[in-house]
Parts: sequence; C-alpha cells; structure tokens
Amino acid sequence: MEHAPTDSTVMLVAGARPNFMKIAPVQKALERAGFRTVLVHTGQHYDDQMSASFFRDLEIRQPDHHLGVGSASHAVQTARIMEAFERILLDTRPGWVLVPGDVNSTLACALVCAKLKEATGVRLAHLESGLRSHDWRMPEEVNRVLTDRCADLLLTPSRDAAANLSAEGIDATKVAFVGNVMIDTLLDRLPAARTRALPARLGLDAGRYVVATLHRPSNVDDESALRVCLGGLAAVAADLPVVLPLHPRTQKQVDSFGLGHLLDRLRITEPLGYIDMLSLTEGAAAAITDSGGVQEETTVLGVQCVTLREQTERPITVEEGTNQLAPWPLTVEGIYQTSRRAMKLGRVGVGTRSPDGWDGRASERAATAIRRAPQRS
Ligand code: UD1
Repeated sequence: MEHAPTDSTVMLVAGARPNFMKIAPVQKALERAGFRTVLVHTGQHYDDQMSASFFRDLEIRQPDHHLGVGSASHAVQTARIMEAFERILLDTRPGWVLVPGDVNSTLACALVCAKLKEATGVRLAHLESGLRSHDWRMPEEVNRVLTDRCADLLLTPSRDAAANLSAEGIDATKVAFVGNVMIDTLLDRLPAARTRALPARLGLDAGRYVVATLHRPSNVDDESALRVCLGGLAAVAADLPVVLPLHPRTQKQVDSFGLGHLLDRLRITEPLGYIDMLSLTEGAAAAITDSGGVQEETTVLGVQCVTLREQTERPITVEEGTNQLAPWPLTVEGIYQTSRRAMKLGRVGVGTRSPDGWDGRASERAATAIRRAPQRS
C-alpha cells in the first residue's frame, strides 16, 4: 500500500436533490465526533433549485470537490462519476466513503470504492441502507441493492431494513440501525419553515390545499401514465387547490408529449427549496407524490400522503397510517378517491407518528456507528 488511508477522514458523496438533506446533518455530526470530512458533489443535479438552494437552506458548506458530471444516460452519467471520483479517492485516501440513498451518484461511487478497496483500504458506508421496493425495473432499486452489496457498513433508517439485508445474505455484523437522518434535517428546519409561511404567501389557507410531486420515470416517461397522473391531480383540483412544484424531468416530458393543457387546473411552481417545500407540506390537507422522501416527511408531519406507485420501499409509512398507495394500475378515479379518503382522515400534527429512530438523532448514531466499526482486517 503506497499511502495508508486516514481513518479519521470521511469522504461524503452527494449528487442529486434527495442526497443533500441526508448528508447535511451527518457531515455536522461527524465533525462534532472529531472526524475530518471531505464533501464531493458529483454534479448529477446542477440547477440552482435542484442543488445550490439546498446548500443555502441546509447550511452545508461548499463542496471540496465538484465533479460537474451533469445529465446524461444512466451508463454515461455513472461512468463519468466513476472516472472523476476515482481520481479524487486516490488523491485523498480517506478511511471511509459515505454514500447516501439510491441515486446514480450513490452506486457510481460505491463501485469505485469496491474496486479500490484492496489497493487503498477505503471502507464504504451506505446511509439509508436496506430499503427495497422489490421492483427491479426501478433504477433506484438497482442502485440500492448493488450499493448495499459493496458496503462495509450498512446504516439503516428503519427496523424493516435489517430483514431485507439478511434475506440477501448480508452479514448482520455489518448492519447498524441508526434511524432516519432526513428527519434530523426536518426537525432542525421546521422553525425556519414556519417562519417562511409559504402557503400564506401563495394565498393558500392551511389545511385547504394539496401539495403534489411527480418525477418517477415510470409515471412521467410514459405518455399514458403521465396523462393519468396529471388527470388525477386535476380531478382533485376540482375540490381543493393542488400545488405542483414541477421537477425538470416532468417538465421536459410534459413538453415533449404536448400535455401542457393538463397543467391548466393545477398551481404549477418551479422546484422548491427545502424550507419552502417543508412549509408547504406541513400546511397541506394531503400530499400526492411518487417521491420516497415526501412519504417519510409526511409521516412525521402527520399529513396524509397518497403514493402514486405500485409498491413502496418505505412500508413503515403505511404501517404508521399516514401513507396509502393509490390502486394500481393508476387511474384518474383511483387517485381521486384515494385522495378524498386521505383528506377525510385529516392531519394529526407533527410528531404524533414517529417510527423508531425518526427522532432527530439519527446522524449522531451514524457517526457513532462509523467510530465503532471494527478496524480493517
Ligand atoms: C434522480 C434520481 C432519483 C431522485 C431524483 C430527485 C437516479 C437514477 N434518479 O432522478 O432517485 O428521486 O433524482 O430529483 O439517480 N435536470 C435538470 N436540472 C437538474 C437535474 C436534472 O434540468 O439540476 C433534468 C435533466 O434534463 C435530466 C432530468 O432532469 O435529464 C433527469 O435528471 P436525472 O438526474 O437523470 O434524474 P432524476 O429524474 O432527477
């Protein structure tokens, strides 16, 4: 080995929007625990609203390295990240690399670590490990399963994750339950979100509107699926205003299928920053979404969520009674009726539902798990 890795250095990777709220509290907790951290931004997301605004809202310091990979096919994006990340890993020689979630940046960096493990001694920690949709058509499922296979330390967000990992033959001594770090961020930023009062600024009354998000390839890359989803939201909008911050992928597909007229009954906004989105979600009568993060955030906020997916890798949110899957295959009527039922259930308030470990201290437990991990053999 040319240079021994510095065990006290943790390199954190973030690339796409859902990563930023996960790494923010963990970077701070690692530094409080005495680690040196190095932040790598792959550049998978690059628009101000998809990236820089999260750095501002979450007070994340500027990345130490920015790979600037941008958008491309999955293969090209993954390959570009691998190529650039390998150089940084070889130059920096951290003891640990921590990758969050399930995006292409997660898997790309996990693969680099696996391939350089022998040569550099680097160890890989996967944050939000063990979630499974069991749907191999989802790019995120491929990313999750393969990242978990590469990881030396698997940090799980909910109790159900351990069983998924054990079913794949992963050694239980590598798995550490830490809880949900996204909820650390949510609880930390909630006072700021309340001050922001976005619903009032948009002229909406608390509890009298619906917030929606839509970006999964299975819902937006297929014209008829996208018609059904937008038709379902338009049906709900006949009863209450529906605010849809439009993801760039969805905007692109609406334009390419010529479906702009289906947005006419919705309140369309740009993608929102973290604090604005939290403010909007806390005040909503219900959320309608295909995002994983929104299913979790609504659980802790006590807001009913209708999920536009065939299955969820976050079954705990359904068990808590705050999340229901719209009937599959999706139909306009199914989305409408499920949303009506959700709104009748009403809001239960912040913290009424809080799964084990969704308590604001998960990042502290993640730092402890890294500190206590056995020395390299
Ligand atoms: C990615 C993640 C998904 C996550 C989502 C959150 C993968 C496989 N998917 O999906 O798990 O839920 O991020 O947003 O990693 N674009 C912009 N500006 C940006 C970023 C993207 O305009 O800052 C556009 C580009 O046209 C791009 C498209 O959005 O082609 C999709 O971006 P991409 O990163 O490929 O995937 P997402 O759909 O965002």
